[in-house]
Amino acid sequence: MPRCLVRGSIIKDFVRPGQTISSTELVKRLGGKGANQSVAIARAGGVVDFVGAIGSDGVGVRDDLKNAGVNVDQTRLVEESTGRAIIQVNAAGENSIILFKGANYASITPPPIHPDTTYMVFQNEVPLASTIEFLTLATASNIATVFNPSPMPTPDELRSFPFDKLTWLVVNEGEVSELCEALDVAVKTEGRDLVEDARKLVLGLAGRLPSTNIICTLGADGVLAKFRVSDDCVHLPAAKLQGPPLDTTGAGDCFTGYMVAGLMQLEEHGASEHIAVLQRAIQAAGMCVERAGAASSIPLSAEVESRLRGVPE
Ligand code: RIB
Ligand code: NA
Repeated sequence: MPRCLVRGSIIKDFVRPGQTISSTELVKRLGGKGANQSVAIARAGGVVDFVGAIGSDGVGVRDDLKNAGVNVDQTRLVEESTGRAIIQVNAAGENSIILFKGANYASITPPPIHPDTTYMVFQNEVPLASTIEFLTLATASNIATVFNPSPMPTPDELRSFPFDKLTWLVVNEGEVSELCEALDVAVKTEGRDLVEDARKLVLGLAGRLPSTNIICTLGADGVLAKFRVSDDCVHLPAAKLQGPPLDTTGAGDCFTGYMVAGLMQLEEHGASEHIAVLQRAIQAAGMCVERAGAASSIPLSAEVESRLRGVPE
């Protein structure tokens, strides 16, 4: 079975739903982009090893991660306290997050990599130097890599990051624009059409990173995909929701995790196979938006399949 290693963050999310006026309701849940993406990979049927750190106050969220089917043997216990996020979700389902990175900032040496590992996945809630260390290791071992640089590194960090080594880069419309600016990729956008502007930015960036597949998520406007092998971008629409968006928290992580799990399971890597993987990931992310929470809102692959086939739940 192909395996995937996620080097990333694990966080205790304290969520205040927007529907409540007073803050009497504070729900504690598993979160952190690394943990959320790992849960998505596991729920999508992939084998995943999570490499990250908690403090002694994080045993509960580590157990949640394990119970979601993720191998947590390489989750280190360190002196600092576990990362925390305070998440406010408004009535439109949009969130604002205050993040305390805590133990996620502990330095971690790479563990022995399982020989079946075919993908390594990174986000940006751990030290960027550590991400570079794991990426270098992956490149040397011919392991495909996926980076979702969220929250965005500083312009200086962006300039020093070896983006050209990545197999896949997953960004949103704001991130692709910041990245082009930091890397001096000159792109003229009109500010009239989000998809068209993002397409120009993605193609500009692709000119700089010819060996990287670039995926740009656009929320309700879907996804743009610029595969390494093709010259243009493919635009895929967002999933149709069955109700109003309840909580977008974790939707990007759900998308990335499902994308990775889909890629891991592919036997052939052509544009049509990649598009099918992305469509499934888009559907999964749509379902995540209909549910509260981050990791807890990520659907199982059987649920995604039923929705794709139009079977009522
Ligand atoms: O991407 C969503 C995650 O971002 C939340 O789970 C929270 O922990 C923040 O890190
Ligand atoms: Na959600």
